Amino acid sequence: MPALPPNVHLITHPLVQHKLTLMRRKDASTNTFRRLLGELSSLMAYEVTRDMPMQEVQVETPLETMTGRVIDGKKLVFVSILRAGNGILEGMLSVVPGARVGHVGLYRDPKTLQAVEYYFKMPQDMQERDIVIVDPMLATGNSAIAAVDRLKKLAPKSIKFVCLLTCPEGITALHGAHPDVPIYTAAVDRQLNSHGYILPGLGDAGDRIFGTK
Ligand code: URA
Repeated sequence: MPALPPNVHLITHPLVQHKLTLMRRKDASTNTFRRLLGELSSLMAYEVTRDMPMQEVQVETPLETMTGRVIDGKKLVFVSILRAGNGILEGMLSVVPGARVGHVGLYRDPKTLQAVEYYFKMPQDMQERDIVIVDPMLATGNSAIAAVDRLKKLAPKSIKFVCLLTCPEGITALHGAHPDVPIYTAAVDRQLNSHGYILPGLGDAGDRIFGTK
């Protein structure tokens, strides 16, 4: 992909790149893969919350009273696209422990190839919240687009999308459908294969997180 659209944030921090490379190795155990995913997710939470709104509060140090700044973590909702998105939640919540969590379950209809929703559970008052959708892989973009379509109906304050890695096809699809949704990723790989897997990628993220293959 020649130039990334302006709201695609490629996270090039050496720690992020190092951990992602270790995760790609086909001989990384489930245990190692999951640990690295947790660490990487915390680092990505750091990037995606960089522009979170803050409020001033008075704080008493042992010496003086001062004005400090805090975030309101409860306003943030991490929305996991099942099931692989769940692998990202723990690392994100370790950085923003007050955040709320939503889940979206989608499967691909074998005839129409369209994403069909089978589960959707969100906190209340979504119109007051900022959403960060998490899914390790932005591949065809179908699930991401369906999740954003659905979440926009709840009129949240903002929506961002975080993945570990993507490919030109995934960016083009999500950005084409929702150009207002920033994409945060640690890598843009070469291409999709005919089965919808990212090349070179890291394989099936759900299987690698949960040890199901
Ligand atoms: N989902 C995965 O888990 N891996 C891919 O490469 C693409 C989609």
